[in-house]
Amino acid sequence: MSQDQLKQAVAQAAVKEILPRLDKHAVIGVGTGSTANFFIDALAAYKDDFAGAVASSEATAERLKNHGIEVFDLNNVAGLEFYIDGADETNPHLELIKGGGAALTREKIVAAVAKTFICIADDSKKVDFLGNFPLPVEVIPMARSHVARQIVRLGGDPVYRTGVVTDNGNVILDIHNMQITDPRGLEEQLNAIVGVVCNGLFAARPADVLLLGTKDGVQRIV
Ligand code: 5RP
Repeated sequence: MSQDQLKQAVAQAAVKEILPRLDKHAVIGVGTGSTANFFIDALAAYKDDFAGAVASSEATAERLKNHGIEVFDLNNVAGLEFYIDGADETNPHLELIKGGGAALTREKIVAAVAKTFICIADDSKKVDFLGNFPLPVEVIPMARSHVARQIVRLGGDPVYRTGVVTDNGNVILDIHNMQITDPRGLEEQLNAIVGVVCNGLFAARPADVLLLGTKDGVQRIV
């Protein structure tokens, strides 16, 4: 099976998992990236079975709308039953690195609101320790050099993602060469640097369920 077929399989498994808990009033959170896109495409067939979605990026909002799925402002919904999103890496505790698509801040906000966070990923994303994938950090543009110096003090190699501006008008520093042994601690340390908007560690709020696409089928890990 190709990586795209594995992503499609977990997207369909996620739709199957959430459908029994959806009703006409339910609003769900939807992530960003190629796996999330497969999920949106699979969800479209059931668009009359729930009220709509909150999107974690402009790109996701557009894809949802193109399928005729209503997109709500997060401030106008009472709560979210689910958040469904991909990841760049997941460890066995379902702590994640996200933000390869630069949508980490809105993703973390929507995940924080959702009752259940379902991560969907192909098995290339499963690792024992996070950090092989460069850790994205969203930064206020004027603080870029300051934040980069602080990241060096923490032992990482920050690389400016040139040509990328987030949906919030900020820039991204990707931290290379950092073996992350304490994801929760590092998430807090990075958040404490002045000028950091958000970092791509999802450890304080990990996923609740991981649907992992493997050549032997979709594994459900909780
Ligand atoms: C975007 C993300 C994505 O979930 C992550 O990059 C995985 O993407 P893909 O599903 O395309 O492999 O965090 O900011």
